[in-house]
Amino acid sequence: MLFRFARPALFALDPEVAHRTTIAALKVSPSRRPSSPGALAIEIAGLRFPNPVGMAAGFDKDAEVPDALLGLGFGSVEVGSITPLPQPGNPKPRLFRLPQDRAVINRMGFNNGGAAAAEARLRQRKRRSGIVGVNIGANKDSTDRVADYALLTRRFAPVADYLTVNISSPNTPGLRALQDEGALIALLDAVLEARPMDGPPVFLKVAPDLEPTDVDAIARIALEKRLGGLIVSNTTISRPPLSSRDAGEGGGLSGAPLRDLAQTRLRDFRRATGGAIPLIGVGGIGSAEDAWARIRAGASMIQLYSAMVYEGPGLARRIVRGLEELMRRDGFATLADAVGSE
Ligand SMILES: Cc1cc2nc3c(=O)[nH]c(=O)nc-3n(C[C@H](O)[C@H](O)[C@H](O)COP(=O)(O)O)c2cc1C
Repeated sequence: MLFRFARPALFALDPEVAHRTTIAALKVSPSRRPSSPGALAIEIAGLRFPNPVGMAAGFDKDAEVPDALLGLGFGSVEVGSITPLPQPGNPKPRLFRLPQDRAVINRMGFNNGGAAAAEARLRQRKRRSGIVGVNIGANKDSTDRVADYALLTRRFAPVADYLTVNISSPNTPGLRALQDEGALIALLDAVLEARPMDGPPVFLKVAPDLEPTDVDAIARIALEKRLGGLIVSNTTISRPPLSSRDAGEGGGLSGAPLRDLAQTRLRDFRRATGGAIPLIGVGGIGSAEDAWARIRAGASMIQLYSAMVYEGPGLARRIVRGLEELMRRDGFATLADAVGSE
């Protein structure tokens, strides 16, 4: 309700200023105790997610407000992407709303305050219910990107419920080449070697812009390396038909126009993995129906970001409530039973 009044004011602001304003508001918002209907809990990689609706990476890049986001009803929050050293990201403007398309284009380029600052914040957190994952990425100017991921793994293992290796941002030149078979094996070996014995599970986040042979290779490697999960997907560099003013901007596209592509890619990974590894569905999810379709297609949980821009802070709670109803309507007692049931 409040958001309906605040939205025109927020949309009158530059998108990055609006985002900073939202983070500032979350920092001072009264902390709510998160609670979720028990039937929606799901176990992934040995972690118990209180509900399957997660905040995707990129919203809370510097781990400033994970607990406030959990308080909005998210079952999990993925902070980051965090790089070893602070970096400013690409020149502004680099974030664009596409209101007619309910979409976002960004070419932020991993702007973040670096690992030390984020780690200090995560250490100060009082442990609460809900899962906080840390999404890691390489510095743009790094001469050894694999070493960056290994360093971040060591650094964040003690404070993260899970780690996400992000090699799918389109805004760091050359990063997505790490999805190629040989490079991916070397990268994951380094990350798994750097992870302490009882360290958190490692998830891998992939791009939606993959060929079928890429999907098969990534699925095989993920299974071989016993990853905790695959996050499908990041933003797309493709451009389905769009009608908003800023549709021609370069960068990664997210929100409603990504939905069908991300859903197709999720099905591809479900087929390629045969359900042997948990999948996390991301891209264009804006309603309980979208989330339910992704779960039925094989996702054990979902994440979202862009839809929050348009739907406001009540969205996670609405989706959680809607999912409970849809589960009941379709006769599933547990969420796990519904995963991949389409
Ligand atoms: C402004 C913006 C910044 C993002 N930054 C990151 C990031 O740092 N790391 C990452 O893995 N994904 C990042 N993403 C991608 C999202 O996590 C998500 O995969 C993508 O936006 C698709 O979901 P959506 O359609 O619900 O937004 C970003 C997305 C947006 C819109």
